[in-house]
Amino acid sequence: MALNLIIAFPTTLALFCSYLPIISSSSNNFSYPAIFNFGDSNSDTGGLAAGIAFPLGPPNGQTYFLEPAGRFCDGRLIIDFIMGSMGMPFLNPYLDSVGAPDFQTGCNFATGGSTILPADASSTSPFSFRIQVAQFIRFKARVLELLADKQFRKFLPPEENFKQGLYMFDIGQNDLDIAFYSKSEDQVIASIPTILAEFETGIKELYYHGARIFWIHNTSPLGCLPRIIANFGKDPSKLDEYGCIRSQNSMAKLFNTQLHDLCTKFKGQFPAATVTYVDIFAIKLNLISNYSQFGFKQSLAACCGYGGLPLNFDNRIACGETKVLNGSLVTAKPCNNTTEYVNWDGNHYTEAANLYVSSQILTGKYSDPPLLANAQFIVGSTGKKKKKEKKNWTEGANKIGRRQRWRWRLRRRRRRRRGCDADERQATSCDDDKLRRRRRR
Ligand SMILES: *[C@@H]1O[C@H](CO)[C@@H](O)[C@H](O)[C@H]1NC(C)=O
Ligand SMILES: *[C@@H]1O[C@H](CO)[C@@H](O)[C@H](O)[C@H]1NC(C)=O
Ligand SMILES: *[C@@H]1O[C@H](CO)[C@@H](O)[C@H](O)[C@H]1NC(C)=O
Ligand SMILES: *[C@@H]1O[C@H](CO)[C@@H](O)[C@H](O)[C@H]1NC(C)=O
Ligand SMILES: *[C@@H]1O[C@H](CO)[C@@H](O)[C@H](O)[C@H]1NC(C)=O
Ligand SMILES: *[C@@H]1O[C@H](CO)[C@@H](O)[C@H](O)[C@H]1NC(C)=O
Repeated sequence: MALNLIIAFPTTLALFCSYLPIISSSSNNFSYPAIFNFGDSNSDTGGLAAGIAFPLGPPNGQTYFLEPAGRFCDGRLIIDFIMGSMGMPFLNPYLDSVGAPDFQTGCNFATGGSTILPADASSTSPFSFRIQVAQFIRFKARVLELLADKQFRKFLPPEENFKQGLYMFDIGQNDLDIAFYSKSEDQVIASIPTILAEFETGIKELYYHGARIFWIHNTSPLGCLPRIIANFGKDPSKLDEYGCIRSQNSMAKLFNTQLHDLCTKFKGQFPAATVTYVDIFAIKLNLISNYSQFGFKQSLAACCGYGGLPLNFDNRIACGETKVLNGSLVTAKPCNNTTEYVNWDGNHYTEAANLYVSSQILTGKYSDPPLLANAQFIVGSTGKKKKKEKKNWTEGANKIGRRQRWRWRLRRRRRRRRGCDADERQATSCDDDKLRRRRRR
């Protein structure tokens, strides 16, 4: 407890305070023993960094982890807040090979750059959806084997978690994004059924391997990303009233309509499955269009970038990079106050935006079927005794956040003491082995 007092995090606390009014309406029974997540950088908690040694350097992670943490963000992602809301630790990437990955409450197969369609030589991540599904199948088989051995049990999900766990999906954005650069609008639209057919194959495969509870995020308003606006929005007539590109957003909407149809069809085919479709598009567009209402100052500009407002984005230089542009040495630096920005690096959202989006997901209002957000009220009004007070997810996220932050810091301090230098710190693995060996001694 005392340690919590010593370590003060003014920015994060301020951030929580400013959101309490929004979150206070959210009380629902969102609770699962494990999460198995499939996706791209929107939910990658270290998969690409581990899997292809992707150099995800500072200032990523600066707000919360105080160092790069395998996430394309200054801090936590939606998946981190969702885990926190259930009082569970961060999801370990399947590909983490060092440290002591704990998969008891789930496993993350998402990697930045992943697509639904198979990867090719030009893909950022080789781990497309089909591979992530195959990885899960292998994961489950290995877990069921290893559970027989007592010493592994504390790191592995018990068998029933595969049935009761939530299978979460946030993938498809990169399929559209890549198509924008190589296809005409009509061709992009024509390719959507092919993309979704591949997605359907994957979720069916998971069903055959025991998945029953599906939680499917739709795709974001891509036309509002600084990179997309910088590339495709030079003609102002293409922009809507929020400054986003109309055509890119309407292609994303079309994708979402068809994804929604697929969810309905899937439910019809597999009545034993629970399928929830979550309208992330609507949450993010609401955030971008009404940003000042939610405490933000910049809805479209990248916090970490180069070039200044309105977009602070330059294709030639990525967040954190330093290079010679047009004869002078420049750096794409982060903004002074990330909580004022919706966008982090031109492609991903800030922790502050992710917190807002998570709070909206957990109201249940954006889900189809809706979460029973007012289940408590219903229980109360029928005169039954109120069940045990529902978990306050804000509090949960905050508590778990502090504890994990503390653990993260402690680990960093230990590593420092053992002489890992700043560059090495980027790899979460630095000397964890040595540490464990020492503990065993
Ligand atoms: C959740 O906890 C926060 C902080 O303790 C509090 O301000 C808020 O009102 C709580 N919300 C609910 C729904 O109880
Ligand atoms: C929430 O609880 C209600 C009543 O206990 C139940 O019918 C419903 O399925 C639960 N919803 C979720 C998403 O778990
Ligand atoms: C912005 O907020 C207004 C008022 O609350 C709401 O009517 C509108 O739908 C919001 N915009 C979006 C895109 O959700
Ligand atoms: C380079 O700088 C010159 C002079 O400031 C400017 O006119 C030109 O547009 C710049 N070129 C690029 C590619 O930024
Ligand atoms: C950050 O703050 C410093 C000092 O107040 C100021 O000089 C600088 O321009 C600010 N940077 C940005 C990107 O706003
Ligand atoms: C950052 O911005 C938020 C929102 O504008 C503000 O409440 C907070 O005080 C700022 N933090 C710092 C350190 O300036």
